[in-house]
Amino acid sequence: MRLIVKELPEFYNDIDKTLSEIKSMLSRGVNDRKSNFHYTTLCTVDNNSRPQARTVIFRNFDIEKFYLYIHSDLRSKKINEIKNNSHVSLVFYDDKKKIQLRMRGIAKIEPSKKDSWNKLSNWSRRCYLSEESPGINKQEPTSGFSEKYYFNAPSTEESEKGLQNFSVIQIMAEEIEWLFLASQGHRRILFDIKRDLENIKIEGKWLVP
Ligand SMILES: Cc1cc2nc3c(=O)[nH]c(=O)nc-3n(C[C@H](O)[C@H](O)[C@H](O)COP(=O)(O)O)c2cc1C
Repeated sequence: MRLIVKELPEFYNDIDKTLSEIKSMLSRGVNDRKSNFHYTTLCTVDNNSRPQARTVIFRNFDIEKFYLYIHSDLRSKKINEIKNNSHVSLVFYDDKKKIQLRMRGIAKIEPSKKDSWNKLSNWSRRCYLSEESPGINKQEPTSGFSEKYYFNAPSTEESEKGLQNFSVIQIMAEEIEWLFLASQGHRRILFDIKRDLENIKIEGKWLVP
């Protein structure tokens, strides 16, 4: 018989502890740039019903409501796609912990964005200063914004022009699928998030990996 010595985490056979691990990894992902959960893949459905995936930074997490937040340019394609079809999915993978999260949810563009904008550095606000919309075809290579910002951040006053192009995407998680890879045997759980006004109830069930 093959002896497997790797120490298993406490959540290995425990649905509640797995849910706590998910919450902890998502919270850390927002705050820790080195965390593998600081980035995620956001998949939308485009106007021809085809999937469109891209990397985004995971900006904020409401642990009580299971809302996730992402920043983007209001003129980008994904915004239009979300307005036409709010169903999205997110994928996270931590290659050290061997944990994948596949999430499905409903996205919307947050009406209030000023608080998030106020927390951005002027350097980050630079991304929202392009005159033309992201994705527009150009004859020459371009960053989109003025060359005076190549090495210097805009002043706060200059950066304020970007607010009109800035948007916050809120994703209300509906379902999370957990996959933990282990040599003894993988573990897979489907968490269903049920919502009733302000209350949420999360139920997990084991799946064959
Ligand atoms: C590491 C990394 C982080 C990114 N973070 C964001 C982000 O937070 N928000 C965003 O809109 N785009 C981000 N992007 C760019 C997107 O992947 C994508 O190219 C861009 O948003 C245009 O997508 P769209 O045309 O489908 O809207 C990031 C790309 C990389 C490689």
